[in-house]
Amino acid sequence: MANVFAKKPLAVLLGEANSTGHGTLQRTLGAGNLVALGVGAIIGAGLFVRTAAAAAQASGPGVTLAFILAAFGCVFAGLCYAEFAAMIPIAGSAYTYAYTTMGELVAWIIGWALIMEYALGAATVSIAWSEYLNKLLETFGTGIPYALCHSPLERAVIDGVAQQGVINLPALLIIVALSLLLVKGTQESAMFNAVIVVLKVLIVIVFIGVGWQFIDPANHTPYLIPADAVVKNAAGEVVRTYEGWNKHGWGGILGGAGIVFFAFIGFDAVSTAAQEARNPKRDMPIGILGSLALCTVLYILFGHVLTGVANWREFADPAVGGEASVSYAISAHMTGYGWLATAVTVGILLGFTSVMLVMLMGQSRVFFSMAKDGLMPRAFSELHPRFNTPYKSNLILMVFVGLFAAFVPGNLAGDLTSFGTLLAFVLVSLGVWIMRKSDPDQPRPFRAPLSSASFPLVPIMGALVCSALIIGLDVATLEVAAIWMVLGFIVYFLYGKRNSMLQKGVVVVPTEIDEEAFIKPDKDNL
Ligand code: ALA
Repeated sequence: MANVFAKKPLAVLLGEANSTGHGTLQRTLGAGNLVALGVGAIIGAGLFVRTAAAAAQASGPGVTLAFILAAFGCVFAGLCYAEFAAMIPIAGSAYTYAYTTMGELVAWIIGWALIMEYALGAATVSIAWSEYLNKLLETFGTGIPYALCHSPLERAVIDGVAQQGVINLPALLIIVALSLLLVKGTQESAMFNAVIVVLKVLIVIVFIGVGWQFIDPANHTPYLIPADAVVKNAAGEVVRTYEGWNKHGWGGILGGAGIVFFAFIGFDAVSTAAQEARNPKRDMPIGILGSLALCTVLYILFGHVLTGVANWREFADPAVGGEASVSYAISAHMTGYGWLATAVTVGILLGFTSVMLVMLMGQSRVFFSMAKDGLMPRAFSELHPRFNTPYKSNLILMVFVGLFAAFVPGNLAGDLTSFGTLLAFVLVSLGVWIMRKSDPDQPRPFRAPLSSASFPLVPIMGALVCSALIIGLDVATLEVAAIWMVLGFIVYFLYGKRNSMLQKGVVVVPTEIDEEAFIKPDKDNL
């Protein structure tokens, strides 16, 4: 009888890591590099799209407080990630950590949830990319018809004409283009990465600096959304109401925190670099907490300016400021700064591209590990004979993510991404706690602070805050997420459990990830 709680022994994992060269990764990254890595992975659609969505749907100007709450969840979970990453120095993910602490079924649940984080995350950013592309085209006097850049679940009244979405073509096309790029292999250029990081931070700082003088204090009053608030469109039709407990007042701050949580996703990338840190004990917390702190400060100021320049109600109407909110706020309210709107839009489009690449790559990496373990079909771990990339995985993902990009609204995709990531964070936090009890003597180059084996405060807070953020999400999101997770159980019992290498007693080398395959192809084959 197969045991769904079978654990992959840590010693086996560590042995594999060493035998495959992962134990010998160069320790070259200092604290500064780690902070830059984090900031590069973090700032994206979350800030430039989800901030306005959270303000319009739940938090109003209080979106600043929502950022603080979401940051708390990230700090606690981030420290847990760091402890795992330093202890299990494998270029893996929450999935790998869970396999050794909580067993196969929980590992599967995390792997399944991570599909939401990476695949749906990539789809969310592609939808945001489509919004900003449209804004850019508008500045040149043209644009894409509403039906061809919105999902069938979206409709709006624009200039008095009712519009209905059919397919989001730009979002689909960017996913196809980037997936094909990944099949061929993309050479990670530290220089390009650095330029993108600087560009993104610059956009945020310039927007804060210039926008500050355009803040209208009236937009910040009241600071929380009243329960009886109603937003109507130009035709006088009601677009949104705020009765739900997580849609107004303090409940709305919790609801908004789940939405803007998306903006912090990616900082866990820092923890996966644990084995490359020069001094993990000192540098990992600086890298994680430093990038989180920097982003949180920028996000709070950004949220303050965005909801001060434009009224949060404007973001609730798709025909007004509901899309490409930053470009909208500049062009609609910051007189004389039309050029800034265009520059910011171009920068955002570039910045989104790198976030999508990282997410698509991250997803193929998780699938790679799961396929090696037998929990996913082998196709996901096959490498291209010439390009040495996990091409089948990239192509299957292209179809899957492309379908979401084309047919699912950005709000739903974004909230599902938050859900999947939050669930993984809860389980990782619990995993650290379990591991402290079950394997107290395992060397831990980095330990989450304030966490004794008897009272692990940080893991407990990580699990609690992230669970609260899940509860604050929209009911419709939670329903879809529940269906997705039930589907995951069915797939596990019909496929994963039967094919699991661990269940078959086969000792595999599941984390034999060829880093090169995910980053660049053999140059001679180009
Ligand atoms: N944090 C990343 C973003 O906001 C995922 O795009």
